[in-house]
Amino acid sequence: MQERSILVTGGAGYIGSHVVRQLGESGHRVVVLDNLSTGFKEAVIHGVLVVGDSGDPLLVSRLLREHNIETVMHFAAHTVVPESVALPLKYYGNNTCKTRNLLECCAEHGVEHFVFSSTAAVYGIPEGACAHEDTATRPINPYGTSKLMSEWMLRDLAAASTLRFVVLRYFNVAGSDPSCRIGQSTRNATLLIKVAAEVAAGRRASLAIFGTDFPTPDGTGIRDYIHVEDLADAHVKSLEYLVSGGESTTLNCGYGRGYSVREVIAAVEKAAGQRLEVREGPRRAGDPPVLVAEADRIRRVLGWQPRYDDLHTIVETSLRWERNRAY
Ligand code: UD1
Repeated sequence: MQERSILVTGGAGYIGSHVVRQLGESGHRVVVLDNLSTGFKEAVIHGVLVVGDSGDPLLVSRLLREHNIETVMHFAAHTVVPESVALPLKYYGNNTCKTRNLLECCAEHGVEHFVFSSTAAVYGIPEGACAHEDTATRPINPYGTSKLMSEWMLRDLAAASTLRFVVLRYFNVAGSDPSCRIGQSTRNATLLIKVAAEVAAGRRASLAIFGTDFPTPDGTGIRDYIHVEDLADAHVKSLEYLVSGGESTTLNCGYGRGYSVREVIAAVEKAAGQRLEVREGPRRAGDPPVLVAEADRIRRVLGWQPRYDDLHTIVETSLRWERNRAY
């Protein structure tokens, strides 16, 4: 029998590639399935890369069988909030319908563990300062809804089968592999730290602050930024948790502390040693004012200990990648 492997959909993307690298460093066998619509083949520095679609049942079934897959980690998705507002069906098709197909293949092939990339966007505008895993889910953009529907399918399938899952609700992911082998090279990026790093590296002329009239101390949006290396470690720990018999669970991935857009821009300027060209603009559709994690459960359940919980380190590694990009 072929040795067991982990199937990682979207493993050529920003977050998936960091997880694949860490899985490799921990000695796991990995098969990456990525259609390279937004990912980069150079980002896959461990395991086998299969170019194809995670919503293709024939291909997925063949991979599950041939590689004796016990665990699926599902990253493949569209992730741009404003685009999801403009093109909702693109998001429901790619994120929700394709996840349904993938889950059906997993059920047919008796996949035992599923780690799902979800998002803080499922909370919408939470009451109170922080979102707890039990906070009501009321997404305010189609991106968040497309992911929440996938969470529900996963929950219902697990209730009806032996599949167990960890849903990881990511807050705002940033930073890069500190040794710069891989990083975030997303084309037409919209994420704040990425965009600011591009400005600092001279790849863009300026950046806009989307809204200065939010009910926050400096009027700009507040988010909980988590370093991609800590997030990747949460995936490796989720795998270990499931393999050792842990029950299905949903976990916030954040540090539990928020920074405003102005604070982030100041941190990038400090790391870059230069002023950035910044314009103040109107709010962006689908943006909540504040989104910060209540982040105790992940520490308790997985024994996760962040190592990069520092805004300066986050922006510094983003900037280092932006100035020395390998792809
Ligand atoms: C969103 C999702 C998040 C998801 C991520 C993936 C929500 C609430 N969050 O993050 O779950 O993982 O997308 O793509 O839907 N900003 C600017 N100027 C810019 C870019 C951003 O001012 O050029 C501001 C935004 O208005 C926001 C903050 O910076 O206040 C962070 O925005 P961004 O980095 O785009 O991430 P989210 O939209 O928070």
